[in-house]
Amino acid sequence: MGSSIFLYFLSISLSHIANAAPFASPTSIKPFVIDTFKDSKRNDLGYWHGAGEDLPVEYGDSSIRLIASDPDQNFHTQITPSEKCFDLSPYRDQRMFLRVEFSGTPRFGISLNQQNANCDPTRMPHPETWDTVEAERYIAYVPLSHFKIDQSKVLSVSFSGIYRRENLTLYNVEIVDGPPRGFHVPEKLASGRMVLRCSRPNSFAFGIDDGQPKYAQEVMDILADEGIKVTFFAVSTGLRDPSTNFTQVYREMAKKGHQIALHSYSHPKMEGLAELSDIDDELKKSIRTLNETLGLKSRYFRPPFGTVGARTRQRLGALITDPYIVNWSVDIEDWIWTGTDTPEKQLEAFKRDVKKGGNLAVMHYLHPTTVSYMREAIQFVKAQGLDIMRVDQCLEDPESPSLY
Ligand SMILES: *[C@@H]1O[C@H](CO)[C@@H](O)[C@H](O)[C@H]1NC(C)=O
Ligand SMILES: *[C@@H]1O[C@H](CO)[C@@H](O)[C@H](O)[C@H]1NC(C)=O
Ligand SMILES: *[C@@H]1O[C@H](CO)[C@@H](O)[C@H](O)[C@H]1NC(C)=O
Ligand SMILES: *[C@@H]1O[C@H](CO)[C@@H](O)[C@H](O)[C@H]1NC(C)=O
Ligand SMILES: [Zn+2]
Repeated sequence: MGSSIFLYFLSISLSHIANAAPFASPTSIKPFVIDTFKDSKRNDLGYWHGAGEDLPVEYGDSSIRLIASDPDQNFHTQITPSEKCFDLSPYRDQRMFLRVEFSGTPRFGISLNQQNANCDPTRMPHPETWDTVEAERYIAYVPLSHFKIDQSKVLSVSFSGIYRRENLTLYNVEIVDGPPRGFHVPEKLASGRMVLRCSRPNSFAFGIDDGQPKYAQEVMDILADEGIKVTFFAVSTGLRDPSTNFTQVYREMAKKGHQIALHSYSHPKMEGLAELSDIDDELKKSIRTLNETLGLKSRYFRPPFGTVGARTRQRLGALITDPYIVNWSVDIEDWIWTGTDTPEKQLEAFKRDVKKGGNLAVMHYLHPTTVSYMREAIQFVKAQGLDIMRVDQCLEDPESPSLY
């Protein structure tokens, strides 16, 4: 699982009055420059820019080179201070474009990131969601309307999903009136919706990923005792391997009312796969496995390691009608703390994120300590007065089973 890029957003942002961001009002909707990479600490608007996931960068003379080795690595440049939202919607309505001047690999994603409802970097999730396009399809004018987010709450532009070991040099990121004459605007491809939080008021959902077969019965017992329904994201290779007993387990879970959803065929970092056909292969086999082993179909996908970018989202959009990509806003951090001498940090991490407003959890049942904290985690959520339900229910999906 990727470590958190979002911590970087908290470090942020001095506003330099002389360079203050343009404020959206009907009389001042003009093109503006976001970043020309002259300063390693801040962009041309005076706000934070910087790398996440240990992305090595080299500043040149008004340029930056990103030397990526992993699709999770990223570079963000903010359009607003972290504790504010920028209203880009009038720019979108004026049919303006995001222009990214670059050289080197065109194989990366350009994202527009949406702040959370209160524009509050101390609350989870932060950012709340984002949409991403493939730079290669646009080189390099993207209509703002192609970013399907709430553009009244924009936080930043970011670059990630570099899926080959090729360098990317950025020179200029700006909002412009339009592309040069003759520029062909590609069509916006259908793309999975990225969700990090439940939308239903007062709801909370557990999204449980990979597990160890030997803990499955105990997990089932805990859920039954606590009287809650959850969502399991199942890896196909486990369902296909009779020695794991996962097909029997998930059949029973489904019968008990839990949601079973997609988590890829073999658990790769999907966005890092070299070819679109590799991404398709993972998704199609995963859809087929759910059908053939459990007789189920799902529009819900959790990306292995939380790694996802434009290509994965678009292939999901092509293969499934209106898919959800289910990330999280509560992380029990079992991937950090199991196997250390402080496994109790899992509960601390879980409670910390819930207190910050997170309501969609990620966890696994790979380690006995995680399973042993599950009950307390559930009871902690209940004690906050939240209703625990499946992911589809917490997202108010009209096709989800009724809560009552
Ligand atoms: C999913 O969310 C977590 C927690 O907010 C974050 O660390 C991770 O990077 C996200 N995944 C992607 C693809 O951004
Ligand atoms: C990428 O940049 C690094 C650092 O400048 C350099 O050593 C490397 O050769 C570059 N790689 C490619 C493929 O150009
Ligand atoms: C396999 O799972 C089913 C359903 O939960 C359970 O009844 C059965 O005992 C399990 N078999 C083994 C060998 O664990
Ligand atoms: C499973 O696949 C078959 C064959 O494509 C299809 O007819 C059936 O409707 C699918 N079942 C579900 C639940 O999607
Ligand atoms: Zn997983």
